[in-house]
Amino acid sequence: MDINKIQNLRNQAISSILEAKDKKELERLRIYYLGRKGEISQLIKKLPKLESEEKKEIGSSLNDAKRAIEEAIQNKSSTISHQSLVMDKEWLDVTAPGEKLPQGHLHLISQAIREISAVFGKIGFTRVNYPEVEREWYSFEALNMPQDHPARDDYESFFLDQKPHSKLGRMVITPHTSSGQIREMQRTKPPIRMINISRCGRPNYDATHTPTFHQFEGLVIDKNINLTHLKGIFDYFVVNFFGPKRKIRLRPFHFQFTEPSLELDINCPLCLGKGCKVCKSGWHELGGSGMVHPLVLKNGGVDPKKYSGFAFGWGVERAYLMKSGLNLNDVRLLYEPDLRFINQF
Ligand code: DAH
Repeated sequence: MDINKIQNLRNQAISSILEAKDKKELERLRIYYLGRKGEISQLIKKLPKLESEEKKEIGSSLNDAKRAIEEAIQNKSSTISHQSLVMDKEWLDVTAPGEKLPQGHLHLISQAIREISAVFGKIGFTRVNYPEVEREWYSFEALNMPQDHPARDDYESFFLDQKPHSKLGRMVITPHTSSGQIREMQRTKPPIRMINISRCGRPNYDATHTPTFHQFEGLVIDKNINLTHLKGIFDYFVVNFFGPKRKIRLRPFHFQFTEPSLELDINCPLCLGKGCKVCKSGWHELGGSGMVHPLVLKNGGVDPKKYSGFAFGWGVERAYLMKSGLNLNDVRLLYEPDLRFINQF
């Protein structure tokens, strides 16, 4: 037995292993070289008969060869495994980047709130948040709607079972965002440009009302503010939120907290004001507005002789439905987990 023979055997083994086509052949080679009666094993068995000097040299060379062959078999085995995975009919490329799963998105109302804030933000309106649970005084009295006033019937409200405050009255889930007008006047001095967006509550449930809904309230107070400013801001908002072909129409109305009061209509997105099956008149009502009543200014601590202002309060849900082309005629859908509806967006 000599070292060269072992070297040759090792080289021969490794090159056969590298050429092996499948695991079966690999196993056959393993048995041929390393099996109990294999080439290397046979030589190892002869070791005890050798002289001690030779035994050492041949022994370590045999061990090296055995280790190298084992390693070659292992490497080839994993290469074959990977190849068979790739070559199978239904193969899996484990190195390919994963597929991107669809991610969730903000609720449509949250998206609308962000858009509304951004449109008003561009012309210097400050976004504020006032309590969703209010005191009666802020929601009604301060807005020129005394306890016994019939207008208050329109605001059927959710009252909280709490002890009333001696001056501010009962606690109420804010029935509209107009209470924010008073809070803003108390918080800061004119000039004021506020946009207050909040969740509101009133006990109604039908195709156009949900007990929880959202409003956005605007308030502008400065010296010499008049109706032309109101109209300019509305024109700007309607084009920038609803789109370039949308127009406004103002109609006289009545609210306790504005004088004069107006309702804002927007032309129908389908017929652009001509009148169609959906809108009939060519217009859709968005909500109320007007010049802030002097008593309301006073209640907010603003001198009506020095300052004037205008206000508006509109529904986020309604605005969103009007923007989306009225393909939704039931506001309740916005709060139902109906995937067919969500997928429209
Ligand atoms: N707060 C009124 C409502 O909920 C809407 C409204 C009307 C707000 C006129 C205003 C306004 O600021 O000037 O029906």
